[in-house]
Amino acid sequence: MSLFQGLRLLLKDLGGCKEMQIDGKTRLYAVLGNPVAHSLSPAMHNAAFEFLGLNSIYTACCISAEKLEQAVAGFKALGFSGGNVTVPHKTAIIPYLDGITDEARLMGAVNTLYWQDDHLWGTNTDGPGFVKALVETYPEALEGKNAVLLGAGGAARAVAVALVQAGIKEILIINRSRDKAQALIGLLADLGAQAWETGWDDPVAGEAIADSRLIVNTTSLGMEPRKEEAPPIDYSRLLHQVVVDLIYKPRETLFLYRARQQGCKTMNGLRMLLEQGVLAFERWTGEKAPVQVMSRELERWA
Ligand code: ATR
Repeated sequence: MSLFQGLRLLLKDLGGCKEMQIDGKTRLYAVLGNPVAHSLSPAMHNAAFEFLGLNSIYTACCISAEKLEQAVAGFKALGFSGGNVTVPHKTAIIPYLDGITDEARLMGAVNTLYWQDDHLWGTNTDGPGFVKALVETYPEALEGKNAVLLGAGGAARAVAVALVQAGIKEILIINRSRDKAQALIGLLADLGAQAWETGWDDPVAGEAIADSRLIVNTTSLGMEPRKEEAPPIDYSRLLHQVVVDLIYKPRETLFLYRARQQGCKTMNGLRMLLEQGVLAFERWTGEKAPVQVMSRELERWA
């Protein structure tokens, strides 16, 4: 953070920083999803806009699946400057966009909307945000070139593609529905990675967990309100690994708690949420995102 930014932050805390005005030139941003009432993106991005003195606001729009096409047309017609897409529209929105990046195509999902040459494009900053968060927190996590992924849904796909792009060569996927895991294996093989899958109670899973440097939970097991749940792995095989949970509510899931008790280095999903937002913000504005301001806002509301 520069001295200027530090002073601005201090002034803001002291109530001396001018509040942002909404006027005829205010740029509009929004997250489209359902539900969106609890999204942390408006707080995070509005804090960043305000901090940099950008005349922009970010809001949340709850859109039903039937209205998604109309919502995208409205987004374009009203001249929204950019936005995000969240559950359950990350894949369904693709046909309504003018284009998507290779990243979004591989991940099969869009989380960020932006304009390019008068066309509304979609990209995916979830996977790259995950890798950025990981590398900045535990750079050694990628050194083993292997990982175990718990889950095979949309989040798993984004994380797996980003991990392979970051140099991971071998991935074991453990998932309840084996067919979903198989589909992900096919995609990763096309990217040059060696991937395979097992069920939760397969002894191979325990071996792979013991040998891996990185374990990532992408399932919803342990998310509030079902905090007593945890992925059914053999926790005695966790000893030295970097263990990540994409969940950030609660801050420490039972999965992360058990991993930490075993001596593992752990990370929750808040940092990934931050980094995907940072990448989106920089794409929209061309400005360097005020990461500490955004992080502080997430810490405040998460
Ligand atoms: P997301 O986009 O967040 O990844 P998703 O695509 O619905 O959401 O994927 C949810 C993941 O959590 C899946 O891997 C799912 O396993 P299945 O593919 O077998 O459905 C996993 N998951 C959710 N609830 C689970 C449970 N009770 N037991 C095991 N896995 C579960």
